[in-house]
Amino acid sequence: MTKKRLFFIVGFFVLVALALTACAGPAGPVGPAGPAGPQGPAGAAGAAGPAGPAGAAGQAATATCEDCHNATSNLTGKLEAWIASVHGSGTAFGHAGTNVACTGCHSGSGFTAAIDAKVAPGAAQETALVNPSRIDCRACHQIHTTYTKQDWALTITSPVKMLATDVTYDGGSGNLCANCHQQRTAFPEAKDGKVSVTSTHWGGHHGPQTAMMLGVGGAVVTGQPGPHYGISDTCVACHMGGAGENADHSFTPNVSACTKCHSDAKDFDVNGEQTAIQKQLDEVKTALTTKGLLDKDGVMVVGDYPTDYAAALWNYLLVEEDRSLGVHNPPYAKSLLDAALTNLSK
Ligand code: HEC
Ligand code: HEC
Ligand code: HEC
Ligand code: HEC
Ligand code: HEC
Ligand code: HEC
Repeated sequence: MTKKRLFFIVGFFVLVALALTACAGPAGPVGPAGPAGPQGPAGAAGAAGPAGPAGAAGQAATATCEDCHNATSNLTGKLEAWIASVHGSGTAFGHAGTNVACTGCHSGSGFTAAIDAKVAPGAAQETALVNPSRIDCRACHQIHTTYTKQDWALTITSPVKMLATDVTYDGGSGNLCANCHQQRTAFPEAKDGKVSVTSTHWGGHHGPQTAMMLGVGGAVVTGQPGPHYGISDTCVACHMGGAGENADHSFTPNVSACTKCHSDAKDFDVNGEQTAIQKQLDEVKTALTTKGLLDKDGVMVVGDYPTDYAAALWNYLLVEEDRSLGVHNPPYAKSLLDAALTNLSK
């Protein structure tokens, strides 16, 4: 906590305390003046005024503030981990957090505004642009709603209807994450056997982790929910070490989340799966470069391509931008890359 903020909190408590102690009423009127001659003594003080309003509300609030604002590192420790996390420090916030089309997923204020308006986070939220905040404590927790410990409750955990596919993600408290970590668009319709790659940022958007978990969102290739979709609380189980007090706010997965099931796992490369997916990604990238869909720097080349080739690019991006190297859904990642290699060999 910054000194300024600490000062502010302490100042708040002092104000509450002052309000509570200021119970004595104003002094009574001065008594009548003495007779002429030597000045008489001052009259007796009047009766005490009525008691000030009860301090009960103030007292209760102070007590529950201390549930969170206290001498433990419960709050401050989480704050440290969050600051260093990509939610706290990522560079996309600078431009996407302040853009009306992006702020619903790229800022905490935009996300909260979308939840309040009961619209998908992708929907434009003009009001959120006034003071855009990072994806902070308030984005995920109901901070300062009741001013009690209950405010650690998550802002939203209902199942999420995907933006790009007609499927619902239902993975416990991982539903919170699913609101943002999803594709924004579906593979476009072909015209005369061709699909347009319209920009160097073409594709379903970064962060298609939910589509990958569900085995949906690929071009042409259909899949199944993977084995890890069945883990309770999904994303939160692997990326935060599970729900509850010790939830890890670096959001980085830990191998201890794997050994419950893969007892001999030393890293995420269980049975060499990540190595195999990386090798396939490299092969598809080479083929896409040969066919001219990627340039020598790996940047997409805008143009109209045969559907097979555009589908290969789409599926390559889905696996690449998922960034788990297959872990989120090993069989689906493999079938997307297999199909891409087949398409590009035509
Ligand atoms: C559920 C836990 C919780 C409770 C209860 C709680 N707070 Fe907070 N409070 C937070 C969190 C989390 C933050 C944001 C921390 C940060 O970003 O540094 C915060 C921030 C603050 C700040 C800094 C300014 C701001 O709004 O970010 C003040 C002041 C504050 N709280 C006062 C209070 C007071 C007074 C109460 C009781 C009436 C209270 N809080 C109750 C969790 C809580
Ligand atoms: C409000 C939308 C939103 C929510 C909710 C959200 N995220 Fe994110 N997350 C993002 C954005 C946007 C980024 C990238 C930020 C950047 O690069 O500036 C990100 C980044 C990340 C990263 C880092 C990726 C990297 O580049 O290394 C991880 C891991 C992550 N999120 C996991 C989660 C998990 C787990 C949850 C649920 C507990 C979650 N996120 C909830 C929007 C969200
Ligand atoms: C439906 C939610 C959503 C919307 C809307 C959205 N994004 Fe994102 N974006 C994400 C998530 C989630 C990530 C983090 C993905 C990851 O790290 O795997 C991300 C990542 C990014 C990144 C970082 C890529 C990287 O590799 O570091 C950029 C840049 C970005 N988005 C730009 C934008 C822009 C610009 C817009 C608006 C035109 C936008 N986004 C709209 C969810 C969204
Ligand atoms: C089976 C455990 C597991 C589940 C469930 C899971 N992840 Fe992951 N996730 C991983 C692993 C392992 C990686 C790869 C980390 C590495 O190789 O460094 C990863 C990578 C990521 C990345 C890229 C992080 C980076 O540093 O590049 C993001 C973002 C992400 N996951 C978000 C999510 C979201 C959102 C969900 C839920 C929809 C989710 N994950 C579900 C284990 C999991
Ligand atoms: C991207 C979403 C996300 C952000 C941002 C986030 N949290 Fe959390 N937090 C979670 C999830 C998910 C859990 C586990 C939820 C559960 O147990 O129900 C959790 C749990 C916690 C807990 C344990 C609550 C309990 O039940 O005892 C604390 C304390 C906490 N977070 C503090 C913070 C603070 C402080 C911040 C800001 C610095 C923050 N969180 C930011 C998602 C988030
Ligand atoms: C709740 C149990 C569970 C957890 C936790 C779990 N997995 Fe799995 N995982 C499975 C199941 C079940 C399969 C499918 C096994 C099969 O088809 O033989 C699987 C398959 C895999 C595969 C495909 C290769 C193979 O051996 O079939 C990889 C890679 C993998 N998991 C990685 C991870 C990683 C990394 C983590 C931790 C971040 C993790 N898993 C956590 C249950 C789990």
